[in-house]
Amino acid sequence: MTKQTSNSALSDKQLVANYAASFVENGMVVGLGTGSTANYFIEQLARRKQQEGLDVTAVASSIVSTIKAQQLGLSLVAIEHISQLDLYVDGADEITADMSLLKGRGFDLVKEKLLAKASDKFYVMAEQAKCVSRIGEKYPIPVEVAPFSWQMVLRSLEQIGGEGGLRPNNNGDGLAITTHGSLVLDMTFDKSLDANELNAQLNNIPGIVEHGIFYQLATDVFIANHGVIEHRDS
Ligand code: A5P
Repeated sequence: MTKQTSNSALSDKQLVANYAASFVENGMVVGLGTGSTANYFIEQLARRKQQEGLDVTAVASSIVSTIKAQQLGLSLVAIEHISQLDLYVDGADEITADMSLLKGRGFDLVKEKLLAKASDKFYVMAEQAKCVSRIGEKYPIPVEVAPFSWQMVLRSLEQIGGEGGLRPNNNGDGLAITTHGSLVLDMTFDKSLDANELNAQLNNIPGIVEHGIFYQLATDVFIANHGVIEHRDS
């Protein structure tokens, strides 16, 4: 574990994104995450391209990140054209001491986890407030389901102690629909189930498209806390 201090006026999100971008090298295929921290990372990559001529190929985890990268002039390849990448960089909603993650408050779990798994390195950028003692401490666990399967999946989740239901849309007048046309069940589970057990149980339920527990995928986690960045690796 290393620590780096900065006196800059940048926010912790910006600082940690810039720190992550400093590891990107010429010729890399780099996965772009989704979210406000990932947006800062994309901006810093574009800045490095403009100022230093950094030459990378980017692959985006969402339509939003695709548009942002396109607008900033990054070279993109579609996810279906690659089978592996050098580096995936994304934010997270919760991080435990063993580098398990909760992700997916947004709507792009499927590509995020595919890219994290297919990458040689997966760097996670976060502020101290994202650190928790157990996955599910602050947020329910998002479970993306094929629309026709939601009732059967909900029952399976209840049988392993889960409680929850379908995520409403932002207006509260309908259901949240992911980029891939799925529904999302937001679930809470017994506190005694750790990320390893829950991940295994969720992986085993038919009808789940993907879920928000990223277990043993992160290789490095960068935590920003009032200008100090802590770098943990696996
Ligand atoms: C997107 O689906 C999420 O997993 C985000 O990576 C996560 O919510 C972090 O977002 P912020 O960087 O906006 O906090």
